[in-house]
Amino acid sequence: MLNGKKIVLGVTGGIAAYKAATLCSKLVQKGADVHVIMTASATQFITELTLQTLTRNAVYTDTFDEREPAVVSHINLADMADLVLVAPATANVIAKMAHGMADDMLTTTLLATTAPVMIAPAMNVHMYDHPAVKHNMNLLAERGTLMIEPGEGLLACGYVGKGRLEEPETIVDVVERFFAQRDEVSWKRSEPALVEAFALGGAQEGIQESMQSGVSVQNTLLKGKKVVVTAGGTIERIDPVRYITNDSSGKMGFAIAAAARDLGADVKLVMGSTQAQPPENVQIIPVQSAQDMYEAVSQEWDGADIVIKAAAVADYRPKEVYMEKIKKKGDTLSLELVKNIDILETLGKRKTHQYLIGFAAETQSLEMYAREKLERKNCDLIVANDVTRSGAGFGTDTNAVHIYDRDGLVEELELMSKEDVAHRLLRIAAERIAGRN
Ligand code: PMT
Repeated sequence: MLNGKKIVLGVTGGIAAYKAATLCSKLVQKGADVHVIMTASATQFITELTLQTLTRNAVYTDTFDEREPAVVSHINLADMADLVLVAPATANVIAKMAHGMADDMLTTTLLATTAPVMIAPAMNVHMYDHPAVKHNMNLLAERGTLMIEPGEGLLACGYVGKGRLEEPETIVDVVERFFAQRDEVSWKRSEPALVEAFALGGAQEGIQESMQSGVSVQNTLLKGKKVVVTAGGTIERIDPVRYITNDSSGKMGFAIAAAARDLGADVKLVMGSTQAQPPENVQIIPVQSAQDMYEAVSQEWDGADIVIKAAAVADYRPKEVYMEKIKKKGDTLSLELVKNIDILETLGKRKTHQYLIGFAAETQSLEMYAREKLERKNCDLIVANDVTRSGAGFGTDTNAVHIYDRDGLVEELELMSKEDVAHRLLRIAAERIAGRN
């Protein structure tokens, strides 16, 4: 089901635009909150009123048609989207997307969103085969755009061949499975809608051969990348039976490690003290103290592409670790603590090619403290969470974070699953690395 999923549906000007009515109706029936953006030419084939009535949301056609002064519509749509689906996608909009054009509401929104983008091309068979169209689709594929291939059959223009918009029922099924399996998609060639999850890193051939074999296709946004994640708290021993730790369950770091795995990365998970089940199919490096964690991360540092420090590392440890259990004496016991290595700051000083992401666990002045850490520790991104907020921070399955870079706020993620936070964070990192390369 698509309950609560916000889907921005782009409708462009081909005869298949009439199918947008059925597509909207079926998405809404599945519980999706559908917001339609039409190109001017699409309104020649189907009316805004039809789609507005079916979605019970305003339909946008014009970038400057601002209905609420306090809201910039295309940015609002871009930020709210869990998925941007362009169906039908004409050769023209595919060309505009491939070359970063933004001359109408739809293409402007497409450039502004960090949500996953899925397109369902529909056009004349010869247009679909044209080298320019193929080139543009490959460009989009390399950036992680998901494709729903056209069906074959009699086209509106009288030709027979590949170019017919896939049936709305099939598109809805693909969208449902996308959300259900997020980035791990298993399609068999026998299925009518061949959704080819293309992605960064030129893995298309890998995708196609695995499709021939019918094995499950993983999104490969991070294929070939080595990702190191730290998770959980650290254990700073006092004596053989006592230690200092914190409330970190490891869930945030585990979600990041699992998401990186699902995006095709080679994942090393440096795991401190945790209360959750770590993900499978990642290499786990168990550690206890901050020093242990530093040494483990240092081992992986030179070969790492992305390092994400989600662990809650103790800033101090007992100056003296007793070899025997401290016996209870008087009414008080004083422990002198000394400062631990700041792993993130140390890595920041050694950073060369690595993309370094830190976390900030704050209880007040979130932005100020987070941006100060970002600068001081030389991070590329800092993920700040108010750990006093209900549903966020330690031990929860959800989190609400603000992601900052040196220029300020990159994205605010409202309360959502730690898995969704992880995927959004990794997409931002992958796009930044792609841009850098
Ligand atoms: O594990 P969960 O239960 O899911 O909880 C998730 C979380 C709240 C632990 C996580 O979202 C989080 O905020 N992790 C960072 C916790 C923390 O130590 O924050 P900090 O602001 O004290 O540290 C800032 C950054 O420096 C962190 O990336 C931390 O890993 C790093 N650090 C801190 C101290 C130290 N000695 N070495 C470090 O590397």
